[in-house]
Amino acid sequence: MDARWWERGIVYQVYPRSFRDSDGDGTGDLRGILEKLDYLRWLGVDAVWISPVFPSPMADFGYDVADYCGIDPIFGTMADFDALLARAHQLGLKLILDFVPNHTSDQHPWFQASRNRADGKADWYLWRGRPNNWLANFGGSAWTWDPVRGQYYYHSFLPTQSDLNWRHPEVRSAMYDVLRFWLDKGVDGFRVDVMWMLIKDDQFRDNPPNPEWRPGQKEHDRLLPIYTEDRPEVHLIVAAMRAVLDEYGDRVLIGELYLPIERLVTYYGPHGEGAQLPFNFQLLLLEDWSAARLAALITHYEAALPPGAWPNWVLGNHDRPRVGTRLGPAQARVAAMLLLTLRGTPTIYMGDELGMLDTPIPADAVRDPAELRQPGQGQGRDPERTPFPWTEGQGAGFTSGTPWLPIGHDVPVSAQRDDPGSMLSLHRRLIALRRAEPALAEGAILGVQAVGSALTYRRELDGRSFAVLLNTGGAVTEVDVASGTVVADTHDSGERELPAGRLGLGPHQGVVIRV
Ligand code: NOJ
Repeated sequence: MDARWWERGIVYQVYPRSFRDSDGDGTGDLRGILEKLDYLRWLGVDAVWISPVFPSPMADFGYDVADYCGIDPIFGTMADFDALLARAHQLGLKLILDFVPNHTSDQHPWFQASRNRADGKADWYLWRGRPNNWLANFGGSAWTWDPVRGQYYYHSFLPTQSDLNWRHPEVRSAMYDVLRFWLDKGVDGFRVDVMWMLIKDDQFRDNPPNPEWRPGQKEHDRLLPIYTEDRPEVHLIVAAMRAVLDEYGDRVLIGELYLPIERLVTYYGPHGEGAQLPFNFQLLLLEDWSAARLAALITHYEAALPPGAWPNWVLGNHDRPRVGTRLGPAQARVAAMLLLTLRGTPTIYMGDELGMLDTPIPADAVRDPAELRQPGQGQGRDPERTPFPWTEGQGAGFTSGTPWLPIGHDVPVSAQRDDPGSMLSLHRRLIALRRAEPALAEGAILGVQAVGSALTYRRELDGRSFAVLLNTGGAVTEVDVASGTVVADTHDSGERELPAGRLGLGPHQGVVIRV
């Protein structure tokens, strides 16, 4: 069977607040995204996932939804959304929305209704007379007292992000209708927020202590979340969401899942009835970025995939330090080559194609509740959420007003576009190569191994074969190669013929060879 668009294609994540501000209020918006669709087309990606744009008090910048079927005025109107979707489709781009089903804003009318014990929605949230020991992800107890109801309610994140009760059939059907609302408009899929947290233990058993936790680490990690996360019943919900998408044909369900490989792959469903792309964050989380670790990781992941499951890889997102900061600018180029030559759908976080680095945020400019509630613990996500630089000069072509977060010192699109040595040009070349060569997009991955500091593998399909050689280290390293043509090089923009023999890879150099 031919590969589907979400197998063949490349996903690009837009964090809407920081992409392009069309009206000068300092915050990005839907019209801004529409203006820049041509750029995404030019870059060569296939699908755009936009973080939440729904009405929200913005306590967690849109991940606290007050109306699942609307658009927050800060981002524009429903007409703006419709125009964005239509234009994306005209350009051949897919549009993926962010679905946040685990929790609503406390301002959502459902939660307000649920505060009344006599209301029909009384059981739509998790209410208890006494809290247990469960902890919130942004610090403190996960239970907050509501004086109106005279009970505690559960929240995995902020007290203003109350968790829905997914065991309630009316909650489920209301949420599936939300999916249908957007699918009827023609959206191409959803990225599901914290998919693995949707169901909690029905007996509300205490989580056990985490023996590895040390003072100074994130408070939430003091306990092992065995009763609050990755519960067996969650898979029924994921499959039901998928069934809703399947009513519409060729749509994609992506899951946000911070889980070890064995647990992660269960979200495909034993017969592929779960998420088509359970986000694989292993590259994002890898602490030891070495050829040996990468080879082990790729091999492990590939072997763990259930039959028929399609892999995927992620290098960055709006919740984690940027890849350029984690690995350094030189190795980030190698990482881009890795991402765009691995088997599996790649997701690029906006700005990583420019080599953006985390922007230091002065204390008085911090916006992220994760940092404000746990200062100095390294939990803040503002550094990777700063505005996207389009041009030189004040506002960086992002805004004519005062940006909601400080703008960093990254090289803008305007200065990178025509520079063959830029990170942006490297991305464009690698994306074009992947699009042109089915072996790179859909082919098998073979011979994954570490040769000194070099990670090497082949991609093959229908007699076309590519060797990928990536030096993960800062010293020259040598690898044996067959003769071929170098079709991509982190250090050079042209093609060149290569005789068989020993190839010296420079520090942080990666090459793709057609053999
Ligand atoms: C994951 C999202 O990516 C993150 O930004 C958000 O804070 C939490 N889920 C809560 O919705």
